[in-house]
Amino acid sequence: MHDTRRHSDPLERLRADRARAFEVGDPCAGLCTVASVDAAGHPAARTLVLRELEGRFAVFTNRTSPKWTQFERSATVAVVVWLPMLNLQYRLQCTTHPVPDALVHASWLLRPDVPKRLDWFYTTAASQGTVIADRRALLDGLAGVSLPEPLTAPPTAAGRYLEPHSIDRLDLAQPDGVHDRRHFEWRGNDWVETVRVP
Ligand SMILES: Cc1cc2nc3c(=O)[nH]c(=O)nc-3n(C[C@H](O)[C@H](O)[C@H](O)COP(=O)(O)O)c2cc1C
Repeated sequence: MHDTRRHSDPLERLRADRARAFEVGDPCAGLCTVASVDAAGHPAARTLVLRELEGRFAVFTNRTSPKWTQFERSATVAVVVWLPMLNLQYRLQCTTHPVPDALVHASWLLRPDVPKRLDWFYTTAASQGTVIADRRALLDGLAGVSLPEPLTAPPTAAGRYLEPHSIDRLDLAQPDGVHDRRHFEWRGNDWVETVRVP
Protein backbone atom coordinates (compact mmCIF):
# COMPACT_ATOMS: atom_id res chain seq x y z
CA MET A 1 0.00 0.00 0.00
CA HIS A 2 1.41 3.38 -0.99
CA ASP A 3 0.93 6.36 1.22
CA THR A 4 0.02 8.93 -1.46
CA ARG A 5 -1.70 12.08 -0.34
CA ARG A 6 -1.96 15.74 -0.93
CA HIS A 7 0.12 17.72 1.47
CA SER A 8 1.26 21.13 2.49
CA ASP A 9 3.38 23.05 0.03
CA PRO A 10 6.96 21.63 0.05
CA LEU A 11 8.19 25.03 -1.05
CA GLU A 12 6.92 26.42 2.25
CA ARG A 13 8.87 23.66 3.98
CA LEU A 14 12.00 24.55 2.03
CA ARG A 15 11.56 28.19 2.98
CA ALA A 16 11.05 27.29 6.64
CA ASP A 17 14.06 24.93 6.61
CA ARG A 18 16.28 27.57 5.02
CA ALA A 19 15.12 30.13 7.58
CA ARG A 20 16.03 27.66 10.34
CA ALA A 21 19.42 27.06 8.66
CA PHE A 22 20.10 30.82 8.55
CA GLU A 23 19.15 31.08 12.23
CA VAL A 24 21.68 28.42 13.27
CA GLY A 25 24.41 29.88 11.02
CA ASP A 26 24.47 27.06 8.46
CA PRO A 27 27.17 28.03 5.91
CA CYS A 28 25.04 26.57 3.08
CA ALA A 29 21.79 28.27 4.05
CA GLY A 30 21.99 30.71 1.16
CA LEU A 31 23.36 28.35 -1.47
CA CYS A 32 22.37 25.67 -3.94
CA THR A 33 24.02 23.52 -6.59
CA VAL A 34 22.52 23.78 -10.05
CA ALA A 35 23.19 21.06 -12.62
CA SER A 36 22.56 21.45 -16.33
CA VAL A 37 23.74 19.74 -19.49
CA ASP A 38 26.50 21.33 -21.55
CA ALA A 39 26.73 21.63 -25.33
CA ALA A 40 28.53 18.25 -25.53
CA GLY A 41 25.78 16.55 -23.52
CA HIS A 42 27.83 16.30 -20.34
CA PRO A 43 26.50 17.20 -16.90
CA ALA A 44 27.77 20.51 -15.50
CA ALA A 45 27.16 21.60 -11.90
CA ARG A 46 28.07 24.67 -9.92
CA THR A 47 27.35 26.40 -6.62
CA LEU A 48 25.12 29.47 -6.87
CA VAL A 49 23.50 31.81 -4.37
CA LEU A 50 19.85 30.77 -4.04
CA ARG A 51 17.77 33.94 -3.84
CA GLU A 52 14.14 34.64 -3.17
CA LEU A 53 12.59 37.37 -5.25
CA GLU A 54 9.05 38.31 -4.37
CA GLY A 55 8.41 34.76 -3.13
CA ARG A 56 10.04 32.95 -6.08
CA PHE A 57 13.38 31.15 -6.02
CA ALA A 58 15.98 32.56 -8.39
CA VAL A 59 19.67 32.54 -9.26
CA PHE A 60 21.74 35.39 -10.65
CA THR A 61 24.56 34.95 -13.09
CA ASN A 62 26.11 36.49 -16.19
CA ARG A 63 24.90 35.95 -19.74
CA THR A 64 28.49 35.55 -21.00
CA SER A 65 28.85 32.27 -19.08
CA PRO A 66 28.09 29.06 -20.98
CA LYS A 67 25.70 28.07 -18.18
CA TRP A 68 23.36 30.87 -19.21
CA THR A 69 22.78 29.23 -22.60
CA GLN A 70 22.43 25.85 -20.89
CA PHE A 71 19.73 27.25 -18.59
CA GLU A 72 17.93 28.85 -21.54
CA ARG A 73 18.05 25.71 -23.70
CA SER A 74 17.33 23.02 -21.11
CA ALA A 75 13.76 22.09 -20.38
CA THR A 76 14.76 21.54 -16.76
CA VAL A 77 17.72 21.89 -14.39
CA ALA A 78 18.47 19.86 -11.28
CA VAL A 79 19.01 21.80 -8.06
CA VAL A 80 20.44 20.49 -4.78
CA VAL A 81 20.14 22.32 -1.48
CA TRP A 82 22.24 20.67 1.26
CA LEU A 83 21.87 22.13 4.74
CA PRO A 84 24.63 20.39 6.74
CA MET A 85 23.73 21.88 10.11
CA LEU A 86 20.20 20.51 9.78
CA ASN A 87 21.27 17.24 8.11
CA LEU A 88 18.76 17.98 5.39
CA GLN A 89 18.93 17.57 1.61
CA TYR A 90 16.51 18.87 -0.99
CA ARG A 91 16.69 17.79 -4.63
CA LEU A 92 14.55 19.74 -7.06
CA GLN A 93 13.72 19.46 -10.74
CA CYS A 94 12.98 22.93 -12.01
CA THR A 95 12.02 24.75 -15.15
CA THR A 96 13.72 28.12 -15.41
CA HIS A 97 12.33 31.44 -16.57
CA PRO A 98 14.02 34.81 -17.04
CA VAL A 99 13.94 37.30 -14.18
CA PRO A 100 13.06 40.75 -15.55
CA ASP A 101 16.32 42.66 -16.05
CA ALA A 102 14.98 45.59 -14.03
CA LEU A 103 14.76 43.36 -10.92
CA VAL A 104 18.26 41.93 -11.46
CA HIS A 105 19.72 45.36 -12.08
CA ALA A 106 18.19 46.89 -8.96
CA SER A 107 19.72 44.13 -6.84
CA TRP A 108 23.02 44.31 -8.76
CA LEU A 109 23.56 47.85 -7.44
CA LEU A 110 23.82 46.39 -3.91
CA ARG A 111 26.72 44.10 -4.86
CA PRO A 112 30.27 44.78 -3.59
CA ASP A 113 32.75 46.56 -5.85
CA VAL A 114 34.70 43.52 -7.14
CA PRO A 115 31.70 41.53 -8.44
CA LYS A 116 30.43 44.72 -10.07
CA ARG A 117 33.77 45.22 -11.83
CA LEU A 118 33.84 41.56 -12.84
CA ASP A 119 30.41 41.82 -14.45
CA TRP A 120 31.58 44.81 -16.49
CA PHE A 121 34.85 42.99 -17.27
CA TYR A 122 32.87 40.02 -18.68
CA THR A 123 30.88 42.46 -20.79
CA THR A 124 33.67 44.61 -22.17
CA ALA A 125 36.84 42.49 -22.01
CA ALA A 126 36.48 38.71 -21.61
CA SER A 127 33.49 36.40 -21.11
CA GLN A 128 33.21 34.47 -17.86
CA GLY A 129 35.25 31.28 -18.12
CA THR A 130 37.56 32.38 -20.93
CA VAL A 131 41.33 31.81 -20.65
CA ILE A 132 43.42 34.79 -19.52
CA ALA A 133 47.23 35.02 -19.57
CA ASP A 134 47.63 34.99 -15.77
CA ARG A 135 46.19 36.40 -12.53
CA ARG A 136 48.15 39.67 -12.96
CA ALA A 137 46.42 40.24 -16.28
CA LEU A 138 43.06 39.65 -14.59
CA LEU A 139 43.80 42.07 -11.71
CA ASP A 140 45.11 44.74 -14.09
CA GLY A 141 42.11 44.22 -16.35
CA LEU A 142 39.70 44.59 -13.44
CA ALA A 143 41.47 47.72 -12.16
CA GLY A 144 41.24 49.17 -15.66
CA VAL A 145 37.49 48.64 -16.04
CA SER A 146 35.81 52.00 -16.43
CA LEU A 147 32.48 51.83 -14.65
CA PRO A 148 29.65 53.93 -16.08
CA GLU A 149 28.58 57.14 -14.36
CA PRO A 150 25.99 56.94 -12.91
CA LEU A 151 26.69 53.31 -12.05
CA THR A 152 24.39 50.81 -13.78
CA ALA A 153 24.42 47.04 -14.25
CA PRO A 154 25.80 45.75 -17.54
CA PRO A 155 23.27 44.20 -19.92
CA THR A 156 24.85 40.80 -19.27
CA ALA A 157 23.83 40.70 -15.58
CA ALA A 158 20.92 38.29 -15.56
CA GLY A 159 18.80 35.98 -13.46
CA ARG A 160 16.56 32.93 -13.84
CA TYR A 161 13.64 31.96 -11.68
CA LEU A 162 13.68 28.31 -10.59
CA GLU A 163 10.20 26.79 -10.70
CA PRO A 164 10.27 23.36 -9.02
CA HIS A 165 7.83 20.70 -10.20
CA SER A 166 9.44 17.75 -8.40
CA ILE A 167 10.97 17.90 -4.93
CA ASP A 168 12.71 15.20 -2.92
CA ARG A 169 13.33 16.00 0.77
CA LEU A 170 15.70 13.76 2.71
CA ASP A 171 15.88 14.42 6.43
CA LEU A 172 18.74 12.55 8.12
CA ALA A 173 17.98 14.00 11.56
CA GLN A 174 15.76 11.20 12.84
CA PRO A 175 16.03 10.00 16.42
CA ASP A 176 15.61 6.36 15.31
CA GLY A 177 18.36 6.68 12.68
CA VAL A 178 16.03 5.88 9.75
CA HIS A 179 16.16 8.73 7.28
CA ASP A 180 12.86 10.38 6.33
CA ARG A 181 12.44 10.74 2.56
CA ARG A 182 9.46 12.43 1.02
CA HIS A 183 8.81 13.13 -2.62
CA PHE A 184 6.52 15.86 -3.88
CA GLU A 185 5.16 16.10 -7.45
CA TRP A 186 3.34 19.14 -8.74
CA ARG A 187 0.16 17.93 -10.46
CA GLY A 188 -0.98 21.20 -11.98
CA ASN A 189 -3.04 22.43 -9.04
CA ASP A 190 -1.53 20.75 -5.98
CA TRP A 191 1.48 18.86 -4.64
CA VAL A 192 1.18 15.10 -4.22
CA GLU A 193 3.40 13.65 -1.52
CA THR A 194 4.77 10.11 -1.36
CA VAL A 195 7.07 8.52 1.19
CA ARG A 196 10.07 6.85 -0.45
CA VAL A 197 12.61 4.33 0.68
CA PRO A 198 15.57 6.48 1.74
C1 LIG B 1 29.65 29.92 -2.41
C2 LIG B 1 29.61 30.21 -3.89
C3 LIG B 1 28.59 31.01 -4.39
C4 LIG B 1 28.54 31.30 -5.75
N1 LIG B 1 27.50 32.06 -6.23
C5 LIG B 1 27.43 32.33 -7.56
C6 LIG B 1 26.31 33.03 -8.09
O1 LIG B 1 25.36 33.41 -7.40
N2 LIG B 1 26.31 33.28 -9.43
C7 LIG B 1 27.31 32.86 -10.26
O2 LIG B 1 27.23 33.11 -11.46
N3 LIG B 1 28.36 32.16 -9.79
C8 LIG B 1 28.45 31.88 -8.46
N4 LIG B 1 29.50 31.15 -7.97
C9 LIG B 1 30.55 30.70 -8.91
C10 LIG B 1 30.05 29.48 -9.70
O3 LIG B 1 30.03 28.33 -8.86
C11 LIG B 1 30.94 29.21 -10.93
O4 LIG B 1 32.26 28.91 -10.51
C12 LIG B 1 30.99 30.42 -11.86
O5 LIG B 1 29.69 30.97 -12.04
C13 LIG B 1 31.58 30.05 -13.23
O6 LIG B 1 30.75 29.12 -13.85
P1 LIG B 1 30.83 28.81 -15.42
O7 LIG B 1 32.13 28.11 -15.65
O8 LIG B 1 29.66 27.92 -15.66
O9 LIG B 1 30.72 30.12 -16.13
C14 LIG B 1 29.54 30.81 -6.62
C15 LIG B 1 30.54 29.99 -6.11
C16 LIG B 1 30.57 29.68 -4.77
C17 LIG B 1 31.67 28.76 -4.27
